[in-house]
Amino acid sequence: MYQDLKNKVAIVTGASKGIGKAIAERLADEGVKVVVNYHSESSELNEFIEELKSRGDSVVAVQGDVTKEEDVKKLVAAAVDHFGSLDIMVNNAGIENEVPSKDLSLEDWNKVINVNLTGMFLGSREAIRYMSENDIKGSIINLASVHDKIPWPHFVHYAASKGGVKMMTETLALEYAPQRIRVNNISPGAIDTPINAEKLSDPVKKEEVIKLIPMGYIGKPEEVAACAAWLASSESSYVTGISLYVDGGMTKYPGFQAGKG
Ligand code: BGC
Repeated sequence: MYQDLKNKVAIVTGASKGIGKAIAERLADEGVKVVVNYHSESSELNEFIEELKSRGDSVVAVQGDVTKEEDVKKLVAAAVDHFGSLDIMVNNAGIENEVPSKDLSLEDWNKVINVNLTGMFLGSREAIRYMSENDIKGSIINLASVHDKIPWPHFVHYAASKGGVKMMTETLALEYAPQRIRVNNISPGAIDTPINAEKLSDPVKKEEVIKLIPMGYIGKPEEVAACAAWLASSESSYVTGISLYVDGGMTKYPGFQAGKG
């Protein structure tokens, strides 16, 4: 538990499932008041919100599309209206789809760049505006990916978006360090979430993924959420502009594990 997180206020985008959901839950467990942003209604989301409320957590679910400036502004307004502030912004919403690059349409390229990169820019910008106007030494956490440094054929739009998020985060970290607004990345590897459900339900494909992970297992959303709680808390007070790889060693050249080369 991080004592300083109690009664802080957070927004988590794309929090109806997967990593975003685990982060919202972990922050709520820490006593943070959480704006749970979602894109589309689902019974899973309603159950999740009810469960958090039944534990006495302060949460509010707010629909919004992170690619729309007005929707992102509404998220910040919801945090302020419901809970009186904004201390932690978790830009998590993201999408991916597999297409050989030569067949990738401009429409698909734009869609992924808009959600994964522009959405995180809008979330970061609105949070920074609020935090700097109100002298809040906040924490902004952007969910990038191991593919902010590992090239990923058939996912060129995704890899480009995540590489962009990494450099955006580093630039914002440098720019707002004097105001003590910290901006960091979490870069997950293969995590057991709905985005990977199809791939991981096929035993052959799952084994192929595991071969790329030196620690030998698919990560759990809670293992990413634990890192988000640390980056949100003042225990990481001197940390800004990093990319925290939560990947079981995936970015450490698993092909070299046997010592050849
Ligand atoms: C993607 C997953 C993929 C993992 C490792 C993540 O960013 O969302 O689909 O399994 O990277 O390649």
